[in-house]
Amino acid sequence: MDEMQAYHVPVLLEESVDGLNIRPGGIYVDVTFGGGGHAKTILTRLEKGRLYGFDQDADAEKNALPGGKFTFVRSNFRYLSNFMDWHGVKAIDGLLADLGVSSHHFDDESRGFSFRFDGDLDMRMNKRAGKTAAEILNTYSEAALADVFYLYGELRSSRAIARAVVQTRSQRAIQSVSDFLNILRPFFSREKEKKSLAQAFQALRIETNGEMDALKEMLTQALELLKPGGRLVVITYHSLEDRLVKNFFKTGNFEGKVEKDFYGNVETPFRPINNKVIVPDEAEIERNPRSRSAKLRIVEKNGNEGK
Ligand SMILES: C[S@@+](CC[C@H](N)C(=O)[O-])C[C@H]1O[C@@H](n2cnc3c(N)ncnc32)[C@H](O)[C@@H]1O
Repeated sequence: MDEMQAYHVPVLLEESVDGLNIRPGGIYVDVTFGGGGHAKTILTRLEKGRLYGFDQDADAEKNALPGGKFTFVRSNFRYLSNFMDWHGVKAIDGLLADLGVSSHHFDDESRGFSFRFDGDLDMRMNKRAGKTAAEILNTYSEAALADVFYLYGELRSSRAIARAVVQTRSQRAIQSVSDFLNILRPFFSREKEKKSLAQAFQALRIETNGEMDALKEMLTQALELLKPGGRLVVITYHSLEDRLVKNFFKTGNFEGKVEKDFYGNVETPFRPINNKVIVPDEAEIERNPRSRSAKLRIVEKNGNEGK
């Protein structure tokens, strides 16, 4: 295994980079650089163009690619427009987002993303900003915690889990992965334990990193920045994220509200490139089980007709 693979194995690599329909002289953004797997492939298709790679995690910066066509941006992608402006970029030809966390996050024992290891319950992708997952468990109201587990983890016992969190923290602060596991375990059956724990950890991670808000802000700015005919390529890993992207691609808003013009024609900023969502095939899932839940959607910005 080479170093790049050890950090993260890129998911739906060919399908997503093909989806960008790269113009060799174009300007592209990979807003989730990670181990740079997708970015590396994008760069092989660029001649005079440029690729900007965003990642909010300091560890990802170590994977920054050499050469004159790549710029690493250490930032949350919710500041996409600001940083493009800073680099003098007014419009882009395509943007790729491969959402969520990388394998590196799950494999690093010190970050608190995985229930396979004990340690501080941190879960921040950017270790310099925001509340840790433990701070969230120790400070949110019971109702707010129940919402997190229900909305982001789709856990049926979300209310009872929230109550248990509040009861536990009234005795002593919740600090570690094992503290959280001890609260969760009684709610899950043996057969479903692994899946349910993954859902609970996912819920807390999404809240810790403000993932849904960052995604909305980034997509809104991407639409502004994209040239007519430019491509937007997004890989999601859970249903809430996917629903948001699906609605936005269909209608240009997050509720999926169809807008019509005076004549009743549907007005939408995008043209779908894949009508059916693209998922990894059996071979990819076998090679890389973490790709199992991936869903790829590709759209092109309207307004390029006749050019
Ligand atoms: C699934 S990994 C991407 C892997 C990458 N495509 C590759 O081939 O190695 C997601 C990456 O995006 C970063 N990330 C997630 N949300 C982010 C955000 N809001 N802003 C900036 N980076 C983010 C994570 O730190 C992580 O490194």
